[in-house]
Amino acid sequence: MLFSLPTTLHTLLISLLWSPFTQRPEVTDNVEPSLITFQLRHQHATTNTSSIVFADVPPLSNFANDATFVVDTKRSRIPRPPSHAEFIAARRMQAESHMSAALDWRDTDVEIPDVSKRSTLISMAKMTFNAYYADNSSDWYNVDEDGWDKHFPHGWLPTDDGMRGHVFVSTDNSTVIIVIKGTSAFWPVGDGGPTTAKDKLNDNLLFSCCCARVGPTWSTVCGCYDGGYRCKDQCVQDALATEEGLFYPIGLNLYNNVSYMYPHANIWVTGHSLGGSLSALIGITFGLPVVAFESPAEKMAARRLHLPPPPSTHHITHIYHTADPIPMGVCTGVASACSLGGFALESRCHLGQVIRYDTVGKLGWSVNAQNHPIKVVIDKVLSMDLDWQDQEDKDKSLFEISSWPWGGGGKKEDDEEEGKKPEGFLEVPQAKLAGEVEGVDGICTDCFNWEFV
Ligand SMILES: *[C@@H]1O[C@H](CO)[C@@H](O)[C@H](O)[C@H]1NC(C)=O
Ligand SMILES: *[C@@H]1O[C@H](CO)[C@@H](O)[C@H](O)[C@H]1NC(C)=O
Ligand SMILES: *[C@@H]1O[C@H](CO)[C@@H](O)[C@H](O)[C@H]1NC(C)=O
Ligand SMILES: *[C@@H]1O[C@H](CO)[C@@H](O)[C@H](O)[C@H]1NC(C)=O
Repeated sequence: MLFSLPTTLHTLLISLLWSPFTQRPEVTDNVEPSLITFQLRHQHATTNTSSIVFADVPPLSNFANDATFVVDTKRSRIPRPPSHAEFIAARRMQAESHMSAALDWRDTDVEIPDVSKRSTLISMAKMTFNAYYADNSSDWYNVDEDGWDKHFPHGWLPTDDGMRGHVFVSTDNSTVIIVIKGTSAFWPVGDGGPTTAKDKLNDNLLFSCCCARVGPTWSTVCGCYDGGYRCKDQCVQDALATEEGLFYPIGLNLYNNVSYMYPHANIWVTGHSLGGSLSALIGITFGLPVVAFESPAEKMAARRLHLPPPPSTHHITHIYHTADPIPMGVCTGVASACSLGGFALESRCHLGQVIRYDTVGKLGWSVNAQNHPIKVVIDKVLSMDLDWQDQEDKDKSLFEISSWPWGGGGKKEDDEEEGKKPEGFLEVPQAKLAGEVEGVDGICTDCFNWEFV
């Protein structure tokens, strides 16, 4: 594939805005770990006019599976824009000039989920699983009391189409988790759900190289295809800026609505699949801790949406396994399950840090979209009591020990603490910067076989 130099340079420059070279290492204060208990309090949904509505979940209702979860936390400093208005201004400037706008990010000390703990990941994954269940509640309300007609339509009905999910709140109201439901498509839990059309539009606009142009028979989601493997980049960016049914702007309203309901709370966002990718985009925007499961890679979408890159992104954690083709960006090609379902999920580079379970290497799984549902991940990946340390890291530490002149004796003191798993045992794979896991020399490139003009 031939590239014209200016295009290549342009792409390189833009991708450097989001490169790990601009990242600072995580600074974590060493304080006692603590536990937070969360309860399911609300459902959130979108009306067919894109208004956000909520319905309260009564305590002790047996709606969905479980309604109470415990999460391990630790403190961390995460970058927040000085205000949302300044973020929007910087975003606009970036869209117009293609230059990274100087934004005075503030490091904020907050409690975040401790993603090195298996129990934390299981709790949060179960919350995302719950979000696929919809109650048929009729008591929906909006937070603005701005004349939204509570009687018609009755908020979110199973036949409506749009973004929805759950809101969990800690028993003391200090921490809130917004859960965003993923795609209800060919990997459904339950009956598949109603939101397929808008889910598909969002997936195809955000995660395809060029408007879901997969083959000549595909109906594309925007008109930016320019023949061959050429795509009009500005055109894709414009489509993202104007598309009505896009979930990102709804997600911004959702965060604003929840922070209006809980003005003093520390808010986290989580989701599975599309829900996780949206969580990450919202988390980057407001500086929130995010845990995303099996999500299509959203770095290209962040660039196309002109989100100003924060100085560090360790507050965004992606969790996925190697036998799931969707986060790996390999559910592509006309015969793939994704294409058969009408999805073009071609992106491969995530933001933030990645916890990657090597189910192909360690468990001998083969890559299949049937490994994508969160239920499979909870039951067969997160619940496994295995040592998930990378072979590569294991070899490295063995090499380091054996190259000591005293043959590794120096490690003894650490080893003899009581009740400890063997040296290097990891109940959760080591979190690493996305570029380190997914890229070459720390830089990951999306859609490298396309030319963007
Ligand atoms: C929204 O739904 C109501 C009732 O289901 C319908 O009458 C109305 O036309 C819909 N509005 C839009 C903009 O689709
Ligand atoms: C809540 O969300 C709606 C969109 O549904 C938005 O118009 C409104 O400004 C938000 N309100 C607050 C207080 O954030
Ligand atoms: C919800 O669904 C159940 C069972 O399908 C039904 O018995 C109940 O009346 C419904 N409630 C509302 C508010 O529609
Ligand atoms: C938490 O908020 C709910 C509803 O907003 C309120 O009813 C409850 O009393 C609050 N609990 C605490 C411990 O503040």
